Amino acid sequence: MNQYFTNNTSLKSKLKVLNYSYNEYNISLKSDLGVFSKDKIDLGSQTLLESYFINGRKNVKVLDVGCGYGLLGISLAKIMNCDVDMIDVNKRAIHLCKMNIKENKVNAKVWESDVYENIKDKYDVIITNPPIKAGKKIYEKIINESFNYLKENGELWFVMRNNHGVKTIHKNLKKTKNSEIMIKNKGFYVIRAKCA
Ligand SMILES: C[S@@+](CC[C@H](N)C(=O)[O-])C[C@H]1O[C@@H](n2cnc3c(N)ncnc32)[C@H](O)[C@@H]1O
Repeated sequence: MNQYFTNNTSLKSKLKVLNYSYNEYNISLKSDLGVFSKDKIDLGSQTLLESYFINGRKNVKVLDVGCGYGLLGISLAKIMNCDVDMIDVNKRAIHLCKMNIKENKVNAKVWESDVYENIKDKYDVIITNPPIKAGKKIYEKIINESFNYLKENGELWFVMRNNHGVKTIHKNLKKTKNSEIMIKNKGFYVIRAKCA
């Protein structure tokens, strides 16, 4: 079965343009078959962004893990003036993301990486709407290993649905990190976990 995180070279293309607006900003994003949330901006991702715009840091170095066509990273680059790196395993998503970076004229880069395998730097912020369908092993790795790629005072921001076990993940994070529920919206929880 084709999932949004698999690479299927025979998959047809049906490009579509989605628009994300926040205050005076408009971000135009090309989407296609075979990528996550191809027809509309995901409500979880939107909730995560809008919580970040209120409580997140501006002008910092950000890693967007599982970037898809680039909504999170491109928005933080454009609206919060962040310097953004983005990674995904889906080649089509990476291709779309490259086009979207260009189209929105933002300071961002995207490349292929299975979780953190091609990451060398450390970041102020890691942001993710983790790939639940890729399985627990992958999304827990994205969350738990993020702290190896964060600077001393770094922050992990993520969104997850109530029914995907976010309360347990938050409870476990709280044992060693300063983890907070930033907002709850229609079953989506936004979590910020600080290293220190
Ligand atoms: C829920 S989607 C979020 C996409 C995008 N950030 C958004 O908010 O619209 C999760 C993304 O993680 C990617 N992904 C799946 N497994 C991955 C892995 N092992 N390493 C990196 N990215 C992965 C998928 O291809 C997908 O684009």
